[in-house]
Amino acid sequence: MSRNPCSLVLLAHPDPAGSRVNSALAAAVCDLDDVTVRDLATVRRAGGFDVAEEQRLLVEHDTVVLQFPWYWYSVPGILKEWMDHVLLRGFAYGSEGTKLHGKTLQVVTTTGGPGESYQPGGYNRFTMSELMRPIDATAHLCGMPLAEPFVVHGVYHLDEAALAEYGARYRALLTGDEQRATA
Ligand SMILES: Cc1cc2nc3c(=O)[nH]c(=O)nc-3n(C[C@H](O)[C@H](O)[C@H](O)COP(=O)(O)O)c2cc1C
Repeated sequence: MSRNPCSLVLLAHPDPAGSRVNSALAAAVCDLDDVTVRDLATVRRAGGFDVAEEQRLLVEHDTVVLQFPWYWYSVPGILKEWMDHVLLRGFAYGSEGTKLHGKTLQVVTTTGGPGESYQPGGYNRFTMSELMRPIDATAHLCGMPLAEPFVVHGVYHLDEAALAEYGARYRALLTGDEQRATA
Protein backbone atom coordinates (compact mmCIF):
# COMPACT_ATOMS: atom_id res chain seq x y z
CA MET A 1 0.00 0.00 0.00
CA SER A 2 1.44 3.41 -0.94
CA ARG A 3 1.62 6.22 1.61
CA ASN A 4 1.97 9.98 1.44
CA PRO A 5 5.50 11.45 1.45
CA CYS A 6 6.39 12.39 4.98
CA SER A 7 8.75 14.96 6.45
CA LEU A 8 11.00 14.83 9.48
CA VAL A 9 11.57 18.34 10.83
CA LEU A 10 14.69 18.48 12.97
CA LEU A 11 14.26 21.60 15.04
CA ALA A 12 17.80 22.50 16.02
CA HIS A 13 17.62 25.40 18.44
CA PRO A 14 19.88 25.33 21.51
CA ASP A 15 17.19 27.00 23.62
CA PRO A 16 13.70 26.36 22.19
CA ALA A 17 12.06 28.07 25.18
CA GLY A 18 13.97 31.25 24.35
CA SER A 19 13.14 31.09 20.65
CA ARG A 20 10.56 33.42 19.13
CA VAL A 21 10.82 32.69 15.44
CA ASN A 22 11.82 29.03 15.18
CA SER A 23 9.34 28.00 17.84
CA ALA A 24 6.56 29.84 15.96
CA LEU A 25 7.55 28.20 12.68
CA ALA A 26 7.63 24.75 14.29
CA ALA A 27 4.24 25.39 15.88
CA ALA A 28 2.85 26.25 12.44
CA VAL A 29 3.64 22.77 11.05
CA CYS A 30 3.60 20.42 14.03
CA ASP A 31 -0.04 19.37 13.65
CA LEU A 32 0.31 18.40 9.98
CA ASP A 33 -0.29 14.80 9.01
CA ASP A 34 2.88 13.20 7.68
CA VAL A 35 5.12 15.71 9.50
CA THR A 36 7.19 14.74 12.53
CA VAL A 37 8.73 17.64 14.44
CA ARG A 38 11.69 16.55 16.52
CA ASP A 39 13.15 19.06 18.97
CA LEU A 40 16.82 18.09 19.17
CA ALA A 41 17.43 20.03 22.39
CA THR A 42 14.74 17.93 24.10
CA VAL A 43 15.75 14.52 22.78
CA ARG A 44 19.47 15.05 23.34
CA ARG A 45 20.65 13.34 26.52
CA ALA A 46 23.75 14.08 28.60
CA GLY A 47 25.66 11.45 26.62
CA GLY A 48 24.50 12.89 23.31
CA PHE A 49 22.00 11.59 20.75
CA ASP A 50 20.56 8.11 20.50
CA VAL A 51 22.16 7.46 17.12
CA ALA A 52 20.12 4.32 16.32
CA GLU A 53 16.86 6.19 17.02
CA GLU A 54 17.90 9.22 14.97
CA GLN A 55 18.87 6.98 12.05
CA ARG A 56 15.64 4.97 12.32
CA LEU A 57 13.60 8.17 12.02
CA LEU A 58 15.62 9.35 9.04
CA VAL A 59 15.00 6.08 7.23
CA GLU A 60 11.24 6.31 7.93
CA HIS A 61 10.84 9.73 6.29
CA ASP A 62 11.09 10.94 2.70
CA THR A 63 12.10 14.55 3.37
CA VAL A 64 14.51 15.72 6.04
CA VAL A 65 14.02 19.32 7.13
CA LEU A 66 16.86 21.00 8.99
CA GLN A 67 15.25 23.94 10.80
CA PHE A 68 17.58 26.20 12.75
CA PRO A 69 18.53 29.77 13.63
CA TRP A 70 21.47 30.92 11.53
CA TYR A 71 24.46 31.21 13.88
CA TRP A 72 27.83 32.57 12.83
CA TYR A 73 27.11 31.95 9.16
CA SER A 74 26.43 28.31 9.84
CA VAL A 75 24.32 25.82 11.78
CA PRO A 76 24.10 25.98 15.61
CA GLY A 77 26.38 23.65 17.54
CA ILE A 78 23.55 21.28 18.42
CA LEU A 79 22.91 20.57 14.74
CA LYS A 80 26.59 20.16 13.99
CA GLU A 81 26.80 17.67 16.86
CA TRP A 82 23.78 15.78 15.49
CA MET A 83 25.38 15.67 12.01
CA ASP A 84 28.74 14.53 13.36
CA HIS A 85 27.19 11.67 15.34
CA VAL A 86 24.29 10.56 13.16
CA LEU A 87 25.46 10.93 9.55
CA LEU A 88 27.91 8.07 9.79
CA ARG A 89 29.93 6.26 7.15
CA GLY A 90 28.07 3.10 6.17
CA PHE A 91 24.76 4.85 6.88
CA ALA A 92 24.85 8.26 5.20
CA TYR A 93 27.90 7.98 2.95
CA GLY A 94 30.54 5.55 1.73
CA SER A 95 30.02 2.61 -0.62
CA GLU A 96 27.53 0.94 1.74
CA GLY A 97 26.08 4.16 3.12
CA THR A 98 23.01 4.58 0.98
CA LYS A 99 20.23 4.92 3.56
CA LEU A 100 19.53 8.57 2.73
CA HIS A 101 19.74 8.26 -1.04
CA GLY A 102 16.85 9.95 -2.79
CA LYS A 103 15.46 11.67 0.30
CA THR A 104 15.05 15.42 -0.09
CA LEU A 105 17.01 17.74 2.18
CA GLN A 106 15.18 20.97 2.98
CA VAL A 107 16.83 23.81 4.93
CA VAL A 108 14.63 26.19 6.89
CA THR A 109 16.60 28.90 8.63
CA THR A 110 16.15 32.32 10.22
CA THR A 111 18.64 35.17 10.25
CA GLY A 112 19.05 38.37 12.21
CA GLY A 113 20.55 40.11 9.18
CA PRO A 114 18.19 41.46 6.51
CA GLY A 115 18.09 39.86 3.06
CA GLU A 116 20.02 42.71 1.44
CA SER A 117 22.97 42.16 3.80
CA TYR A 118 23.48 38.71 2.24
CA GLN A 119 24.92 39.81 -1.08
CA PRO A 120 28.24 41.10 -2.45
CA GLY A 121 28.72 44.60 -1.03
CA GLY A 122 26.35 43.88 1.88
CA TYR A 123 27.76 43.73 5.39
CA ASN A 124 27.50 39.93 5.39
CA ARG A 125 29.42 39.90 2.07
CA PHE A 126 28.12 36.61 0.66
CA THR A 127 24.81 35.21 -0.52
CA MET A 128 23.04 32.57 1.54
CA SER A 129 23.67 30.01 -1.23
CA GLU A 130 27.38 30.71 -1.04
CA LEU A 131 27.37 30.38 2.74
CA MET A 132 25.32 27.17 2.56
CA ARG A 133 27.84 25.36 0.40
CA PRO A 134 28.86 22.95 3.21
CA ILE A 135 25.20 21.88 3.44
CA ASP A 136 25.04 21.55 -0.34
CA ALA A 137 28.15 19.33 -0.28
CA THR A 138 26.73 17.29 2.60
CA ALA A 139 23.48 16.67 0.73
CA HIS A 140 25.43 15.65 -2.36
CA LEU A 141 27.64 13.24 -0.42
CA CYS A 142 24.55 11.67 1.14
CA GLY A 143 22.76 11.35 -2.21
CA MET A 144 20.04 13.77 -1.14
CA PRO A 145 18.49 16.27 -3.57
CA LEU A 146 18.71 19.71 -1.91
CA ALA A 147 15.51 21.76 -2.07
CA GLU A 148 15.51 25.55 -2.38
CA PRO A 149 16.17 26.85 1.16
CA PHE A 150 13.34 28.56 3.03
CA VAL A 151 14.98 31.55 4.70
CA VAL A 152 13.37 34.09 7.01
CA HIS A 153 15.58 37.17 7.11
CA GLY A 154 15.60 40.15 9.44
CA VAL A 155 13.86 38.39 12.30
CA TYR A 156 14.32 41.21 14.80
CA HIS A 157 12.04 43.40 12.68
CA LEU A 158 9.41 40.79 12.01
CA ASP A 159 6.02 41.69 13.46
CA GLU A 160 3.44 39.09 14.49
CA ALA A 161 1.54 39.31 11.19
CA ALA A 162 4.70 38.74 9.15
CA LEU A 163 5.69 35.85 11.39
CA ALA A 164 2.25 34.27 10.95
CA GLU A 165 2.60 34.69 7.16
CA TYR A 166 5.95 32.87 7.22
CA GLY A 167 4.32 30.14 9.31
CA ALA A 168 1.61 29.75 6.65
CA ARG A 169 4.21 29.60 3.88
CA TYR A 170 6.22 26.99 5.77
CA ARG A 171 3.07 24.93 6.24
CA ALA A 172 2.34 25.22 2.52
CA LEU A 173 5.90 24.17 1.71
CA LEU A 174 5.53 20.96 3.69
CA THR A 175 2.11 20.15 2.29
CA GLY A 176 3.22 20.87 -1.29
CA ASP A 177 0.92 23.91 -1.59
CA GLU A 178 3.70 26.51 -1.66
CA GLN A 179 2.87 27.72 -5.20
CA ARG A 180 -0.58 28.70 -4.03
CA ALA A 181 0.79 30.33 -0.88
CA THR A 182 3.31 32.56 -2.67
CA ALA A 183 1.09 33.40 -5.66
C1 LIG B 1 25.23 32.89 18.71
C2 LIG B 1 24.45 33.63 17.67
C3 LIG B 1 25.00 33.78 16.40
C4 LIG B 1 24.28 34.45 15.40
N1 LIG B 1 24.84 34.58 14.16
C5 LIG B 1 24.14 35.19 13.17
C6 LIG B 1 24.69 35.31 11.85
O1 LIG B 1 25.78 34.84 11.55
N2 LIG B 1 23.96 35.96 10.92
C7 LIG B 1 22.72 36.48 11.20
O2 LIG B 1 22.09 37.03 10.27
N3 LIG B 1 22.16 36.36 12.43
C8 LIG B 1 22.84 35.73 13.41
N4 LIG B 1 22.29 35.58 14.66
C9 LIG B 1 20.87 35.97 14.87
C10 LIG B 1 19.98 34.72 14.84
O3 LIG B 1 19.95 34.17 13.55
C11 LIG B 1 18.59 35.05 15.34
O4 LIG B 1 18.71 35.42 16.69
C12 LIG B 1 17.65 33.87 15.19
O5 LIG B 1 17.39 33.61 13.83
C13 LIG B 1 16.35 34.14 15.93
O6 LIG B 1 15.59 32.93 15.96
P1 LIG B 1 14.83 32.47 17.29
O7 LIG B 1 13.83 33.53 17.61
O8 LIG B 1 14.20 31.17 16.92
O9 LIG B 1 15.88 32.31 18.37
C14 LIG B 1 23.00 34.97 15.68
C15 LIG B 1 22.46 34.82 16.98
C16 LIG B 1 23.17 34.17 17.95
C17 LIG B 1 22.57 34.03 19.33
